[in-house]
Amino acid sequence: MNLSHYYTLGNSGLRVSRLALGTMTFGTDWGWGSDKDTARGLFNAYVNAGGNLIDTADMYLNGNSEQWVGDFVKERGLRDQLVIATKFGFNPNPTNPNGGGNSRKNIMRAVEGSLKRLGTDYIDLYLLHCWDQMTPVEEVMRTFDELVRSGKVRHVGLSNVPSWYASRAQSIAEFRGYESVCTLQLSYSLVERSIENEFTALATRYGMDTMVWSPLGGGMLSGKYKPSEAGKYGEGRLQVMQGNPAFAKFSERNFAIVAEVESVAKALGRSMAQVAVNWVANRPGVATVLIGATKQAQLDDNLQALDFSIPAELLARLDAASAVEPTYPYTYFTPAVQNQVVGNHPLQDKHAGYAPPILIPGANAAAGNE
Ligand SMILES: NC(=O)c1ccc[n+]([C@@H]2O[C@H](COP(=O)([O-])OP(=O)(O)OC[C@H]3O[C@@H](n4cnc5c(N)ncnc54)[C@H](OP(=O)(O)O)[C@@H]3O)[C@@H](O)[C@H]2O)c1
Repeated sequence: MNLSHYYTLGNSGLRVSRLALGTMTFGTDWGWGSDKDTARGLFNAYVNAGGNLIDTADMYLNGNSEQWVGDFVKERGLRDQLVIATKFGFNPNPTNPNGGGNSRKNIMRAVEGSLKRLGTDYIDLYLLHCWDQMTPVEEVMRTFDELVRSGKVRHVGLSNVPSWYASRAQSIAEFRGYESVCTLQLSYSLVERSIENEFTALATRYGMDTMVWSPLGGGMLSGKYKPSEAGKYGEGRLQVMQGNPAFAKFSERNFAIVAEVESVAKALGRSMAQVAVNWVANRPGVATVLIGATKQAQLDDNLQALDFSIPAELLARLDAASAVEPTYPYTYFTPAVQNQVVGNHPLQDKHAGYAPPILIPGANAAAGNE
């Protein structure tokens, strides 16, 4: 098991396991997830396997997830050994306009609640959960910096933001001497590759490593949902949440990707979940992947995802099945246009130690850079 192989997170010195434990399933109030005993078992199995990164958020199960994470860490006496990541931004009291979002007032309110529920006096990684489209990025970065200086927070990150926002946040941090962003928590999987257009470069060039969420597309890539069973898939989050657009994964395109994952998994003698997690964990810019599990057997399966390598020819099949057609302006970064820009002098690969070329899906595969 490769859980005790630690990467530094982005431009920080914080060392994290390449597989993290996601806890959006700690509680059953949302209609899917685990009861407390099961959640405790998942937590203990993860840390016993050498894992050190636990991800939660103040809004998960309305605070229940943070509370249970705090309880389990305390039971095991592991506070110093673990890296606890949590997030703020979703509004638990919609009648209060300052009860959510990214303002200083809300961040300062939210951090106190998270510290209390987690039963700790510091958060290792504090993340903005979702851009609110109104708070100036300067206010967020200055508040983050104040939290780090006060000792309540060690490192900061962003989730679900546009790339221009992350880039501006990092530039402000750099030029004003604020704590910089060390990670972007983003959805990335064989059924969701849109971050490759912009965020891979932010990770590999500007120190904001990707922390992947939903590596299985909410369970889709595990292979347990089959088109022949449409509408009655048995137990599982995507079955329970059918009709909710946020969980709409049962498309023809996704089932075609699932079929290729199944074929590759058979060739490797591995589970489909392991193949899907392995693929995303080894993409450029990815530091760590948040594993979600509602059952012990799922976690045991997923924790073996880094114990093997996917050979190049099988990787090429996965890439081809899941590739996204470039849209404008990314069409301008494909070889067809770039050859007209750089003439007979294309970008040369530099030797190890230099920043790699920016990876544009499709374009780089065609150019032989992937
Ligand atoms: N920043 C954000 O906005 C954001 C958003 C979402 C998640 N996250 C974080 O990312 C973590 C992971 O996200 P996710 O739960 O969506 O990840 P995921 O890996 O895409 O989906 C996990 C779900 O798939 C099913 N599953 C997992 N392993 C399986 C296996 N081996 N065989 C069959 N089914 C399996 C389980 O659901 P069922 O048993 O219900 O089928 C499990 O809860 C979360 O816990 C949270 O910490 C962050």
